Amino acid sequence: MFDLIIRGGRVITASDSFIADVSVRDGKIAALGTELPGSAPRVIDASGLFVFPGGVDGHTHMEEPFMGTVSSDDFYTGTLAGAAGGVTTIIDYAYQEPGKTLSDAAGTWMGKARSKAVIDYGFHLVVTDLETSSDAEVRDLMVRGYPSMKLFLCYEGLKQSDATLVRMLKNARAAGGLVLVHAENDALVEALIRDALLEGHTEPCWVARCRPKAAEIEAVFRAVSLAESIDAPLLVVHMSVAEGVDHLRRARRRGARVFAETCPKYLLLTEDKLEGDWYSAAGFTCAPPLRDREETRRLWDRLSAGEIDIVSTDHDCFDLRGRKDLGRDRFDKIPLGMPGIETRLPLLFTYGVGSGKISLNRFVDLCSTAPAKIFGLYPEKGTIAPGSDADLVLFDPHKKVVLGKDVLHQHVDYCPYEGTEVTGYPVVTISRGEVVFDRGIFSAEKGRGRFIPRKPFEVPRRGRP
Ligand code: URP
Ligand code: ZN
Ligand code: ZN
Repeated sequence: MFDLIIRGGRVITASDSFIADVSVRDGKIAALGTELPGSAPRVIDASGLFVFPGGVDGHTHMEEPFMGTVSSDDFYTGTLAGAAGGVTTIIDYAYQEPGKTLSDAAGTWMGKARSKAVIDYGFHLVVTDLETSSDAEVRDLMVRGYPSMKLFLCYEGLKQSDATLVRMLKNARAAGGLVLVHAENDALVEALIRDALLEGHTEPCWVARCRPKAAEIEAVFRAVSLAESIDAPLLVVHMSVAEGVDHLRRARRRGARVFAETCPKYLLLTEDKLEGDWYSAAGFTCAPPLRDREETRRLWDRLSAGEIDIVSTDHDCFDLRGRKDLGRDRFDKIPLGMPGIETRLPLLFTYGVGSGKISLNRFVDLCSTAPAKIFGLYPEKGTIAPGSDADLVLFDPHKKVVLGKDVLHQHVDYCPYEGTEVTGYPVVTISRGEVVFDRGIFSAEKGRGRFIPRKPFEVPRRGRP
């Protein structure tokens, strides 16, 4: 007797594709096979559908205090939107607050998520003051469920020095941690912002103009060089420039443990969206910024070539009215970030798999398996195998949806992909054996999501011998 059986779908993992039944007991996958014997109180007919492992979005910002406001999705609305978009696990960023420790940050974010999240979650800790949190505390947290920690190399109040980056890389090497970096050269960005303001520029397009590709390329090279020298694992998050990815590829060939994350926004949207009407343009402000069309092509090339490891969203919603418009008169005051948790799977499926740029297995790897491995969640998350959590997405490869604010569940007053038609959409999402979303209907109890303590980093080297 099982709790749930999903019959006749095409199971797709990062390596395989086969028609099978999937049976679930006690929140875990119990068996996989054709015409599995046994019964269950609920049987879902998945014929004609793909069965993917639940999406792992390794980069979200729910109820994030940032640039004078708070992001508009909280852990309830944001994880509901995730469930509707085929996501079953998120890793959110927990910021160390002034005068407080990293353990405090973990506690604070746990307090926000515990009673609200409908899918499972973990936290990357954001180091803002390594004097308040000691190396001993960092290493202890890395082995106690928080192996990944982010350093911003830019932003007043958040930016960290090279000395701190070196310390963190040493901590990561010693304790099985993974350092994440937001790679943009702060001095260059700040100087360009100052000049632009002095020249009287206020419009959203200046967000991109003041954050040139060179700022990202330089910071990526620096971070990768330090990680390689120290032999510590590093993930460069939200990469928008192919030349940065090339730095990683070269270091990786020499044996460095360096990894690349990008987001659908950098593959699909371009900087010209930042021109024109203020309320339209401001919705496309983020850091690193959107780039030109040619750069998106280069990024797709790197993705197709296997040089980018994961596709996350950097889901960081700010309403145009009441949040983004804090910067109505000054582009440097616009809270930076864009929504994305609900649209990652359909967009990458449509524009990646649908156009032949990536295979179906690679799609699963980028959105689920590789993030689960890199962030210490595998094999409980990120695959479909007996013993793994029954986190599953039933995905209709032919379903057409025109994306827009009114069809999505993200708690934000715009959609960056308004009017874009996608082919391929999640129809049922299952978290630990429980159907949490079924063809437009949510059945997840608020707060049912669980904190998942993550394992230390253990991805093998990929370099050439
Ligand atoms: O553009 C964004 N999301 N900025 C804020 C958070 C981040 O990841 O850098
Ligand atoms: Zn960042
Ligand atoms: Zn982010």
